[in-house]
Formats: sequence, C-alpha cells, structure tokens
Amino acid sequence: MIKEIKIYKGDIIFCESPDKFTTLENGYIITENNKIKETVQELPAEYSDIEILDFSENLIIPGFVDIHLHAPQFENLGLGYDNELLPWLENYTFPEEAKFSDTKYAEEIYKKFIKALYMHGTARSVVFSSLHLESTEILADLFLESGLGAYIGKVNMDRNSPSYLTENYKKSLEETEYFIKKYNKPDSMIKPIITPRFIPTCTPELMDGLSKLSEKYNVPVQSHLSENLSEIEWVKELHKEIETYAGVYDHYKMFGDRPTIMAHCIHNTDDEIKLMKEKGVFVAHCPTSNFNLSSGIAPIRKFLDNNVKVGIGTDIAGGHTISIPETIISAIHASKMYSVYADRTFHSLSISEAFFMATKGGGEFFGKVGSFEKDYEFDALIINDNELSGDSNKSIQERLEKYIYFGVKENIIKMFVSGKEINRDRF
Ligand code: GUN
Ligand code: FE
Repeated sequence: MIKEIKIYKGDIIFCESPDKFTTLENGYIITENNKIKETVQELPAEYSDIEILDFSENLIIPGFVDIHLHAPQFENLGLGYDNELLPWLENYTFPEEAKFSDTKYAEEIYKKFIKALYMHGTARSVVFSSLHLESTEILADLFLESGLGAYIGKVNMDRNSPSYLTENYKKSLEETEYFIKKYNKPDSMIKPIITPRFIPTCTPELMDGLSKLSEKYNVPVQSHLSENLSEIEWVKELHKEIETYAGVYDHYKMFGDRPTIMAHCIHNTDDEIKLMKEKGVFVAHCPTSNFNLSSGIAPIRKFLDNNVKVGIGTDIAGGHTISIPETIISAIHASKMYSVYADRTFHSLSISEAFFMATKGGGEFFGKVGSFEKDYEFDALIINDNELSGDSNKSIQERLEKYIYFGVKENIIKMFVSGKEINRDRF
C-alpha cells in the first residue's frame, strides 16, 4: 500500500485526558493514510521534502462529536419548550416525525440537517432517524455523500404512540434487519445502530427482537434513559417486575452487551450508575435539551467520578441548537448551578473536561476519534479566530475559550474527517 503523508501546521489544541489541554504553538500534525502518525513541535528532517498545509495563526482543533440527536426534528428547533417531555413529544415531535413518510420532504430536510452539522464542525454524530425505512436510507446515503461519520438508527416504536406513528413489531424488526444488512459494512463512515425509541414506546416482543438483531449482527444500541420524572413513573408502571429503568434495558440485553449510548441519565439511582460503569454504557449528556424541557440537571461529576463514559449530545430538537460549542457552554452552566443548588461538594466542570467530552470522550464510541494522538483518525477543524482574540498575547487555551464562548460557525474555515476535507458547499 502506498503511504500518503500529509503535514498540517498551526496552533494545535486538544485534550488527551479531561483534566488538561495539550497545546502546540506553530506545531505540526503528521498523518499517514489519514491517521495521525505524530503531533510534534518541530518538524522531523525526514519530512523536509513534503509540502506543508500551512494554517499558521489559525487554531487546529479536533472535529466535534455529537452522540445524541434526532435528524427528523431539525425543523422543530426552538419549538414547544413550554412543555415537558411527554406533552412535547405528543404535540410537537410526533407530528413532525410523521412527515418523514414523505421521502421528498425527508430529502429536503436531511440535506439541511447534514449541512448544519458540517457548518458547525460536527465531524461525527450518533443519530436517531424516524421509524420510516425509506427516509432513513435517504439519510444514510446523504451522510455517505457528505463524508461525515455517523451511526444512524431507524427508530423502533410499536406502542403508546399515536396511530399515525406506530409500527407493527414484525415489520419493524424486518425493516431494521434490512437496514442493518444494507449499511453494516466494515470500513464505512456510516454504520447502523439499534434504536428503540424508549421503553414506553416499545413492546417486550419488539425489545426481544431488537436484542436478537443487535447480537446477531453485532450492532450497537442507543436509546433514552431517565430523562423526566413522569417518564420514569410510566416505565415503573409498565414494568413493575423490574427494579429500575436501566434494569429494563438490561433485562433485554440492550445495556452494554454491545456498545451502548443512553441519552440524558438525569435521575438515575446509584445501582443504575454502577451498572453503567460495569457495562461500559456511554451517557449522552444533553444539557440544552434538559433545560428546555425542564428535565433536570444530570449529575455529570458523579458519572466522571464513577468512571462512566460521557459524551455530549445536542438532542435536537429537545436542544435548540446543533452547535457543540453552545452545548459545551450549557454543560458547564448546568454543572455550575448543580454545584450551587444541588450539591455543594460537586466541582463544576472545567472547560477542558467539557471539551474532552465533546471530542475524545464521545469520540471513543467511534474508535480512535477526537484527539490528535498517534493512530487517531484525522478529524480536524481549522478555526480562524483572528477577530475573536483581540491582542495577540493570548495563550492557545485562552483563544479556544474565546472561540467556544463567542465564536460563530463562520470561524470554521475548513473541516477534515478521517483525513479527507469536507466539501462544505455540498447540499
Ligand atoms: N424520549 C423519547 N423520545 C424522545 C425524543 O424524541 N426526544 C427526547 N428528548 N426524549 C425522548
Ligand atoms: Fe433524544
């Protein structure tokens, strides 16, 4: 195989661990066949003949990772937040998702959705589609065309939802299996993920069938967990025989038996948290959504202290923004208020901890993604922050802080995902 070496120069910043940033002023990232070979301060002599992609004076940061969002809710950003979760689903979300029975509508909205992702620097995402198979295939094909990385789930829901958005469980399983077989390819940038919407909308038969598919094709799982108090009460009523909400997913072997993401995780018991740690379940922390729908504040410090993996999710359209920097800010705000009003022993999240969750933390779900360490896939954003940083005496970390807090998507001038530049004029 021919070795293709590329060299990127600029002001590099990333998080290897949550507690601190690694920075290299005028540093170099050297990639071989789209993976990082080394990230260095001085260019080794062996590369002196190779042309440098020179982004001096710009920041080079890892592409963002969003581990929980709903593509067919893109048109609902900002709508209905006077409601809590259950009425919001009924009055806003379900009627909008029903429109995706129309493949023309799906194509139109999904193009806008993917464009919004790359304009905001989200390189990788873990996405809920709707229950409609054809529209989900359109979403997957558009992602493939875009060059972004994604896990995509056809939603499964066969009870407790409006008749216009309820499946027959056999058909739901058949369609899910078809989608898995079509898209579960070893080196593909997009992959299927099993997506029971949440326990209230999935019958035991459906859960059993999905669990078998997950095992048969070795496919990961995503769902929602303990987002809202009424939701939790409802799950208790539906499954009196099982102690906890997490226990219901676990009962069906969809709680860490394959890689698993659970969105929200606001009101979990200590036993549930222990189970998440033991089974390596990822928490998708969705603070904007949790504020909008009055769901609560997830105790992220507790997850981190218990070695539970945490990534960031925008959860659009529960979240009002697809921007990961804005969601990072919300995560920090949420934890600051938690430390004042809920538990004064909690240290609020630092900027590096929140940035870690939005890059390497969530990136772990994709493999070696979200950092500039050796062997990581080269996912990067080039950030022109000349007009943000004011005087030129700021450290690279301070420049990143300014970009996160009041930068805009226009500061992102280029994006690379797995070593390839994304054409941001597409769609
Ligand atoms: N729980 C079940 N479905 C949904 C959804 O679409 N959004 C959110 N935030 N929570 C859910
Ligand atoms: Fe969600």
